[in-house]
Formats: sequence, C-alpha cells, structure tokens
Amino acid sequence: MTSTAKQGRFVRLAEAGRAPILFTLDGEPLQGQKGDTVLSAILLSRKTLGHADLGDRQRAGFCLMGACQDCWVWQADGTRLQTCVRQLEPGMALLSGPPENWLLPLEPAT
Ligand code: FES
Repeated sequence: MTSTAKQGRFVRLAEAGRAPILFTLDGEPLQGQKGDTVLSAILLSRKTLGHADLGDRQRAGFCLMGACQDCWVWQADGTRLQTCVRQLEPGMALLSGPPENWLLPLEPAT
C-alpha cells in the first residue's frame, strides 16, 4: 500500500476493494477509491484538510453534506473545491492552502 497506510481521521470499514484512484494533496501522493468523495479520500489518510482561512484552527469538515462550508480545498489553478460533495477523480492535484501566486498584484493600467 502507498502512503494511504498512514492513519487518518476516517477508517474504511467496508468496500475496500473498489478501484484505486491516485491524487495528491500538497504534493503528497495519496490514494482513494472509486466512489469516494474527495473529503473521505483525504481523511482516510490525514487527520485534517489543513488550516482554516482565518486563524490557526485545523479543518476536517463537519456536516459531510455540503452545508457547513468547512471542507473547501484549493486546486493548482487557484479554483476551490468543496470536498464533501465532489467525487474523487484520478490525478487531482489538491492544495490545503491557496497556490503561491494566487493573489498576484494587479498589473498597472497602461
Ligand atoms: S463538510 Fe460541511 S460543507 Fe463539506
């Protein structure tokens, strides 16, 4: 098994034989399974999704049904993704915080 052997917040109790899906979070290769939400795939390997936007609090989702807004992560292109309502897709490159160049200063008008 890959790095998914690390203990996460969630434990897969059933349906462990579905097709594996590889993705990354902050560059770390992780593995979920077909049919996982992004949130469940991450929390099977990690305790949290990362820091809250404001403050040092760690986030791990709360409602698991799209209501609380506590489960967003970033994608490399600067868009955000609500992990509890998105199915995991092969090759997803996710970030726990914004990409480095996300808020570049605006170009001066010419
Ligand atoms: S966990 Fe509440 S919106 Fe995703």
